[in-house]
Amino acid sequence: MNYDFDTVISRENTGSMKWEAYGGRDVLPFWVADMDFAIAPEITAALKARMEHPIFGYTVASDELFDALTQHLVTEFDWRIEREWVVWVPGVVSALSACCRAYLKPGDHTMIHPPIYHHFFTVHDQQTQTLIEVPLVKRDDRWTYDLAAIEQAITPETRMMMLCTPHNPTCTVFEVEELRAVCALAEQHDIIVVSDEIHNELILNQSVRHVPTVKAVPDYQHKIVTLMSQSKTYNLAGMNCAYAIIPDPVLRKQYSDACFEVMPGVTTLAYESARAAFESGGPWRAALLDYLRDNYTLVADTLNAVPGLSVERCDATYLAWIDATGLGLNDAAAFFEERGVGLSGGEQFGQSGFVRLNFACPRAMLQTGLDRMVEAVSRLNT
Ligand SMILES: Cc1ncc(COP(=O)(O)O)c(C=O)c1O
Repeated sequence: MNYDFDTVISRENTGSMKWEAYGGRDVLPFWVADMDFAIAPEITAALKARMEHPIFGYTVASDELFDALTQHLVTEFDWRIEREWVVWVPGVVSALSACCRAYLKPGDHTMIHPPIYHHFFTVHDQQTQTLIEVPLVKRDDRWTYDLAAIEQAITPETRMMMLCTPHNPTCTVFEVEELRAVCALAEQHDIIVVSDEIHNELILNQSVRHVPTVKAVPDYQHKIVTLMSQSKTYNLAGMNCAYAIIPDPVLRKQYSDACFEVMPGVTTLAYESARAAFESGGPWRAALLDYLRDNYTLVADTLNAVPGLSVERCDATYLAWIDATGLGLNDAAAFFEERGVGLSGGEQFGQSGFVRLNFACPRAMLQTGLDRMVEAVSRLNT
C-alpha cells in the first residue's frame, strides 16, 4: 500500500496542543512530540470496527493484545516476556511518576542524565527527594554516559536511575556496551533502573538497532522497569496507552500499589489502537521511517549550511537537536518563534543554547519552517 505523508491536514478545531499553543499567530509548530500525519489506515479501520459495538464499559487488555505485544517484542528485540510482567498504563510520564512513588522514600536520591526530556526533572517528590543530574557527554558526534561522573555522583541514598533510550533530545540509541556499563554501576550500588524506551521503534540510522536495557543486562532484570508505548511511532499520543514491563514480582507489586486508585485505566479505544499497531502497523511504520529519514536529511542539509547552527546526528526519534549557541542569542527558541517557527528551547531539557525541532510533518510544512529559519538568521547577520 502507498501511504501518504505529504498531504497537509489541518488540525484546526481538533484541540491539538501543538497547534493551539500559538493562539492564532502565524507560527508553525515544530515543538511537542506528535506528528502531523494521519495515523495508519489499518489503525483507523480497527477503531471504526470497535465503534460498531455500542458499549464502552471498563476495559481490560484482551488476550489478542497480549499476544500481539509479546509477539512484537520477540520479533523486534528477541525479548521473551511473561504475561504477568506487563502493567498497562495511560502514559509513560505517569508511569515514571508512579516509579518514583513506588521505589523512592523521603531522603532518597534518583539520577538522570541531561539533556533529557523535561519530565525527568520533575516526576519525583521535589519536597523530600533529591535529583542527581549527571550530564551526558558528547564523544565524537554522539552523546553518551559519563561513567566516571556517574560513579562519583552515586550516594548511599541513590535508589533509582532513570534512563532514556533511544534518547530524547540527543537522538542517541545506546549500545549494548553502554547500557551494560551504566547498569553495572547500578548493580554495584543496588540501584533500580527505570528505562524509558518510548522511542524504540523510531530508528532512523539503519546501522544501529535498539536494544532494550533489560536485554543488555538480563541478569539484572529483577531491578529494571521498562516503559514503552506505541504512541510516538504511530501518532497515538492523544489515545493514552503505554505499558510497563516489570519482571520482578516485588517491584511489580510496589508499582501497582503506587498506581492504585490514582492511575486511571487505559481506555477501550486506546487498547484497540495499540493492538492494531502491533498487529498490522509494520508496513506503515516502514514507510514513515523512510519519510522521516528524508525529512531529517532536509533539516540537516539546510540548517548545517546556516552560520551559527549545527544539527546533531540523529540515530532515532523525529526530533532534531540543534546547537544554536553560535547565534549568540539569549533565547534562540523565542527568536525563532517571533519569526514564525515554534521550536522547543533547550533549557527545558537542561541545555541552554540548543533548540529541538520536530520534523514529523509533511515536507512542504517542514520546508516553510526551514525557509523561515534561514531567513531569520540571515537577517540577524546583516
Ligand atoms: C522520552 C519520553 N518519555 C515520555 C514521553 C511522553 O509519554 P506519554 O505521552 O506516554 O506520557 C515522551 C514524549 O515526547 C518522551 O519523549
